[in-house]
Amino acid sequence: MRIAMIGTGYVGLVSGACFSEFGVHVTCVDKDAGKIERLKRGEIPIYEPGLDDLVARNVAAGRLSFTLDLKEAMAGADAVFIAVGTPTRRGDGHADLSYVYAAAEEIAAHLDHYTVVVNKSTVPVGTGREVEAIIRRSNPNADFDVASNPEFLREGSAIGDFMRPDRVVIGASSERAADVMRRIYRPLYLIETPIVLTSLETAELTKYAANTFLATKITFINEIADLCEKVGANVHDVARGIGLDGRIGKKFLHPGPGYGGSCFPKDTLALVRTAQQAGSPLRIVETVVEINDARKKRMAERIVAACDGSLAGKTVGVLGVTFKPNTDDMRDAPSLDIVPALQAAGATVRAFDPAGMHEAERLLPGVEWTKDAYGALEGADCVAILTEWNEFRALDLKRVKALLKRPVMVDLRNIYNPGDMAAAGFAYSSIGRPAEPKNV
Ligand SMILES: NC(=O)c1ccc[n+]([C@@H]2O[C@H](COP(=O)([O-])OP(=O)(O)OC[C@H]3O[C@@H](n4cnc5c(N)ncnc54)[C@H](O)[C@@H]3O)[C@@H](O)[C@H]2O)c1
Repeated sequence: MRIAMIGTGYVGLVSGACFSEFGVHVTCVDKDAGKIERLKRGEIPIYEPGLDDLVARNVAAGRLSFTLDLKEAMAGADAVFIAVGTPTRRGDGHADLSYVYAAAEEIAAHLDHYTVVVNKSTVPVGTGREVEAIIRRSNPNADFDVASNPEFLREGSAIGDFMRPDRVVIGASSERAADVMRRIYRPLYLIETPIVLTSLETAELTKYAANTFLATKITFINEIADLCEKVGANVHDVARGIGLDGRIGKKFLHPGPGYGGSCFPKDTLALVRTAQQAGSPLRIVETVVEINDARKKRMAERIVAACDGSLAGKTVGVLGVTFKPNTDDMRDAPSLDIVPALQAAGATVRAFDPAGMHEAERLLPGVEWTKDAYGALEGADCVAILTEWNEFRALDLKRVKALLKRPVMVDLRNIYNPGDMAAAGFAYSSIGRPAEPKNV
């Protein structure tokens, strides 16, 4: 099999590399000449564990290559995947489909044999049909079908998620297209991965339903955490107590500063707009979006409160700025709300992140970036943990205490234990847990 992958971002590059590992010949195309140059030199433009080895191995085997030229990539391809960005459109919350539609126009110009045009980007219901219409208009004689194959990988564990997914969803507009998709995913059929074969519209909606459900689950446990604080309960025990119920499940029940990242914020908003437009509003998701936005903004207040109600002239040491560990992705990270709010309250912010600082420098002006976690704490009035990177989980607390002006820690990811922190002499606050655990 031979495929072209349009877009070498977090999804396109990982999917392309993983398909090549399956034995498919993959040519990845991007408009960004800098990215393609780096990839050709063997450099990986994003931080994703294991991706460098996977890419190097498949490039060496001759199954994976990179180009700026879509015509070259589509020559002899059984399918061309669209994996370009679908950010929030400015002003109205709808998904911005301009990159997807531009890719469809470009594909139309190079279709010279039967090819399946596969949408891997997260796109609202109806986009696949629109892609089909664009190609038909532009190249009426083209021999093609459109398929939808939404991607469920998570940044930070993207390769494992792609190679051993819980399921693959394929929306196909013809049996011929479904057959090509089955052949591309053959290695997953062999490991008995469930394949949900459905219509274009259903596949498109399934992706949004999955992401908005997960965002709802996070928001639910965040609100339960707030209630725990008021009534003296422990949110982790509540999460375990409910999560062990197979109908609920343990995952996505970890409280925090609100969901962020490149998918949940834009996808919840886009589905809200789709549903409103269809005259079938999703009131639950509308509320989730509202609660989450307000939550991210409120997190800075916790840090102010931990610093005796004022940050004027104080320094906050921030650990982690990416929306989650093991990625350099800064899109919609809670830090983008929290850090400016701290600065607006008069604080100097000194911060460290293992992978996100390069991107964050541009997005968070005025922050003093340090070489390691301890550098961010030197002379600070308080430390705030915003991302649960592994290297923040076992800090040398004696050293932390010695570096800080006062031993104050605000842990928005609950990676420390309140009892241990109290014993170590910290004024410690976290999410949804009593400061001193009771009955333990
Ligand atoms: N990031 C994730 O974890 C994730 C997970 C599942 C689904 N998705 C979805 O996948 C899609 C892609 O997301 P991403 O995070 O990989 O985006 P990204 O911004 O990292 O990458 C998109 C790439 O497409 C390139 N591009 C845009 N138009 C192009 C064109 N016409 N020709 C060639 N290249 C073009 C850009 O230069 C960029 O490199 C989105 O719809 C997103 O919602 C993302």
